[in-house]
Amino acid sequence: MMMVNAKLALLLVSVAAFGYLQTALAYSEGAPLEVCTDLMPQHGAPAQTKESPYTLTLNRKSVKGGESMTLTLASKDFSKFKGFIIQARDSNDKPIGSFTSLPASKNNAEFKGKWKLISCPDGPTNNTATHANAVEKSRVVLTWNAPKNLEGQSLKFKYTVAKNGGEYWVGKESESVSVTKKN
Ligand SMILES: *[C@@H]1O[C@H](CO)[C@@H](O)[C@H](O)[C@H]1NC(C)=O
Repeated sequence: MMMVNAKLALLLVSVAAFGYLQTALAYSEGAPLEVCTDLMPQHGAPAQTKESPYTLTLNRKSVKGGESMTLTLASKDFSKFKGFIIQARDSNDKPIGSFTSLPASKNNAEFKGKWKLISCPDGPTNNTATHANAVEKSRVVLTWNAPKNLEGQSLKFKYTVAKNGGEYWVGKESESVSVTKKN
């Protein structure tokens, strides 16, 4: 009996450790698909309610179908971040458009393998950008491409930034971008 219990305990500990390892691993390599909708990291800590030190700056206020935009994720106070997830959302809050997979030049100093693309459900391929590793970053520059048949009045970007595993700002919204009709 004693023996069986000890084995069972060992098994449970291994399963738990493996699960923990898998989670930790998944996160250091970017957000998993479970966070696609609410953008909430599953780290167990509550989202921060104090003002976010991070901003997402857009290079334009309006966009037409097929056009691109540059997004810059950075901090206001030089605090770095380890993780992030960014998505464009249409007026129905569904992911739209896609990110460009690599900078024009792979030697681009802004890239250095900081991020990767994932395809969240209910949206096109590569509709979401997330961190590729847990190295501290101070700035991430991304190119987002509007779908050719862009519809609706406006869109916005929703994003989460994790300073570390226990401190993150969830589901923040960029300024709204108005959609201009193609002639
Ligand atoms: C999606 O991104 C990956 C790299 O992250 C790239 O290899 C692939 O071509 C992209 N797919 C589309 C449809 O853009």
